[in-house]
Amino acid sequence: MSMVCLSDFEAYAKRYLPKIAWDYFAAGADDCTTRDENILAYKRIHFRPRMLRDVSVMDIRTKILGSEISFPVGIAPTGFHQLAWPDGEKSTARAARAMDTCYIASTYSTCTLEEISAAAPGGLRWFQLYIHRNRAASQQLVRRAEALGFQGLVLTADLPYTGKRRDDVRNGFRLPPHMKVKNLEGAFEVCKMSPLDPSVTWNDVYWLRSLTHLPIIIKGILTREDAELAVKHGVQGIIVSNHGGRQLDEGPATIDALVEVVEAVRGRVEVYVDGGIRKGSDVLKALALGAKCVFIGRPALWGLAYKGEEGLQDVLRILQDEFRLSMALAG
Ligand code: FNR
Repeated sequence: MSMVCLSDFEAYAKRYLPKIAWDYFAAGADDCTTRDENILAYKRIHFRPRMLRDVSVMDIRTKILGSEISFPVGIAPTGFHQLAWPDGEKSTARAARAMDTCYIASTYSTCTLEEISAAAPGGLRWFQLYIHRNRAASQQLVRRAEALGFQGLVLTADLPYTGKRRDDVRNGFRLPPHMKVKNLEGAFEVCKMSPLDPSVTWNDVYWLRSLTHLPIIIKGILTREDAELAVKHGVQGIIVSNHGGRQLDEGPATIDALVEVVEAVRGRVEVYVDGGIRKGSDVLKALALGAKCVFIGRPALWGLAYKGEEGLQDVLRILQDEFRLSMALAG
């Protein structure tokens, strides 16, 4: 197959992944309105291109929280990479390092943090945390991530409960027996209810800050009110996100929410966005509207499903080339 754009990887994944895995990756909440709006909203934004501006030399590198990345696209945290490729998150870590960008590893990885670190020593990685009822287990994860050299802690704020993803309900989705949520093995064996703690509040950001020296990035912010609270509680970064439309359906598309968050933050912390990035021109639009960097969720999984580490590198390289071209053509 000739892979020219990210939709080619999507088509491949849809065709070749087991249906239960494809459905889990593709799922949005309820009617999937927000999942689809994330993409459509980009199409409603138009450029005002400028001409004759010497675009023969361009620098697409940027810095996030002081670390340089080769271009402003990182990998959002997503669970269960072994559903896409046998090596799972180890391949993701290798691809991110090869492309010199940031990989946010999920709490719900099918490889341990130690395996992820060992697979790509020296790569820029942040760790994404869900706060669990078992606070000792969450605390231990934070400590492990810090000791392993993860450079940021991403607190996901939009998942007190898991959104209703109809296909997962219909499929009775669960991990195949040979895959495990390895970071949490043993921690929740006796837990009959969801291990996620729905009682988490802004005060828990203070709790996290007491546990770690790592910068805290809060993920899942969509309003100016919450952006203000995030700054007030001392986070260093905000990821404007609706979890790829998998949580509350019919909230705003993230690129629309980005504008009010950037306005509220007034440069006090870095603002990133994820959701619906499928082309290099989407990246340019997000940057033009104030994001420091964007993150991709599903496209990374499609890349893994295509050819593991190599497939994910292909996805990132295509986005990089498209981004560079859009920048040049927009002047
Ligand atoms: C996610 N997302 C997610 N977020 C998070 O903080 N922790 C997680 O474990 C997961 N897991 C997860 C699994 C799958 C299959 C998907 C599709 C998404 C949300 C993710 O970080 C990100 O917000 C969205 O995926 C961005 O939207 P796009 O790029 O998929 O459109």
